[in-house]
Amino acid sequence: MSREDARILVVEDNDTLRSGIALALRESWSDVDEIATGTAAVERLQDPDVEPYDVVLSDLRLPGADGIAVLEAARTRDERCSVVLMTAYGSIETAVGAMRRGAYDFVQKPLDLDQIELRVARAVDHRRLLGEVSELRAKAKAHEAGEKVVGDSPALRAAIDLARRVAPTRSTVLVTGETGTGKELIAGLVHSASLRSEGPLVKVNCAALPETLLESELFGHERGAFTGADHQRVGRFEEASGGTLFLDEVGDTSPATQAKLLRVLQEQEFHRLGGSKILRTDARIVTATNQDLEGRVADGSFREDLYFRLNVIRIHLTPLRERPEDLVALAHDFLRRFSRDARRSFRGFDEAALTRLRMHHWPGNVRELHNTIERAVLMADGPWLRAEDLSLFAVGAGVRSREWRPEFPAEGVSLREVERELVLEALCRTGYVQKSAAELLGVSRRKLNYMIQRMGITHSAWRRNRDPNHTADGSQAPDTA
Ligand SMILES: Nc1ncnc2c1ncn2[C@@H]1O[C@H](COP(=O)(O)OP(=O)(O)OP(=O)(O)O)[C@@H](O)[C@H]1O
Ligand SMILES: [Mg+2]
Repeated sequence: MSREDARILVVEDNDTLRSGIALALRESWSDVDEIATGTAAVERLQDPDVEPYDVVLSDLRLPGADGIAVLEAARTRDERCSVVLMTAYGSIETAVGAMRRGAYDFVQKPLDLDQIELRVARAVDHRRLLGEVSELRAKAKAHEAGEKVVGDSPALRAAIDLARRVAPTRSTVLVTGETGTGKELIAGLVHSASLRSEGPLVKVNCAALPETLLESELFGHERGAFTGADHQRVGRFEEASGGTLFLDEVGDTSPATQAKLLRVLQEQEFHRLGGSKILRTDARIVTATNQDLEGRVADGSFREDLYFRLNVIRIHLTPLRERPEDLVALAHDFLRRFSRDARRSFRGFDEAALTRLRMHHWPGNVRELHNTIERAVLMADGPWLRAEDLSLFAVGAGVRSREWRPEFPAEGVSLREVERELVLEALCRTGYVQKSAAELLGVSRRKLNYMIQRMGITHSAWRRNRDPNHTADGSQAPDTA
């Protein structure tokens, strides 16, 4: 008889019993491991280098960590894991409690090998079904959500892949990256591709509230907990049970709040402000920050132990300026979206506009691009979106960075083209005031004026002014005749 593919872990401290069970199970299943103590089992289940098990068959009473700890470790690693507990006669109550915590089944001692095989077979089937369901669901959801995530750069692909891979686990995820890079979007993907996607996704912005309000938001409060607390309030941790809690800007929490967060992450326990009842949550925690958390740990303003708890799975989003492929794809996507909303039709970006987009530093990343295109669609005449329509001088003013480096394409560049683009950029940023543009470029006004003429650059602001040499703002106008 050929053996079925399934990974099974048997945890039992009685050696004879354990090897007997394992021997029997090996007749039907391909991968059966044995372990004698709860502590070792928990360690193995938490080890990221060990492939997760499909079924864990564990004794409830074990030396070291007990069966409940094994159950939690298995389900934290992969919620689809089916855990079957073996209990002594008379501990049915505990077994029922364990089922409430997510155990799939239990068998009573004294053990009957046939019974065990039957229960394990059912557990394997159950795991397989859950796997299929979650795969289908994740595919559908990821398709939905994936459609919203635009871009195909290797950096973004890697982030999306990681998000999908960790989605079905309960591991805490930390999303990092500069402002506007899409951290919240990725956090949403972790939720929607998870088994909890039917459950709530609760978002809390930790930077938006002062300490007491944030704590009452997170943990809830009892009536009378503080002045003004005239009703009991359920906190976000409770609300997010069965789903995902997204803690945005977690780097901005106070030391006191950090201590409380640490406790929830460690014990999955907390109480409402002013309350003494211990509450539990099984919410999956995803956090985000654009702060340098490692630096904050080093200077003592962020707890190191909390940092380690949060930084289990790290998804980092690269700045937009380092993902030119995404930049172009996103720009087109936004242009399509906004022109549809504004009921206007554009053929696309002209060459100069694309160059302008590529040259900009994008300190506000995708959000800045989003806003830039939205504004351009409203302002532009069409049918092509031109460099002048992008008004990047206003958005990027003051952020022209010293570390700006043009990308040097392998096939080489035309120096004249680059020069022209830089002149255009400087003009664009200064609202076509040549005096300021010349300053930005580090050349004299006369030189810039000469270049503008040579390059045949014209602008309506200059044309409107008929004075051949001076515009209203005092900058020299090129001879456009
Ligand atoms: N790859 C992407 N595809 C489509 N839209 C994106 C992408 N990345 C970001 N966006 C959009 O850009 C905007 C900013 O993204 P988001 O709010 O997720 O950024 P953030 O990193 O959380 O920023 P902040 O640190 O300022 O909170 C949103 O409108 C989001 O939908
Ligand atoms: Mg955000």
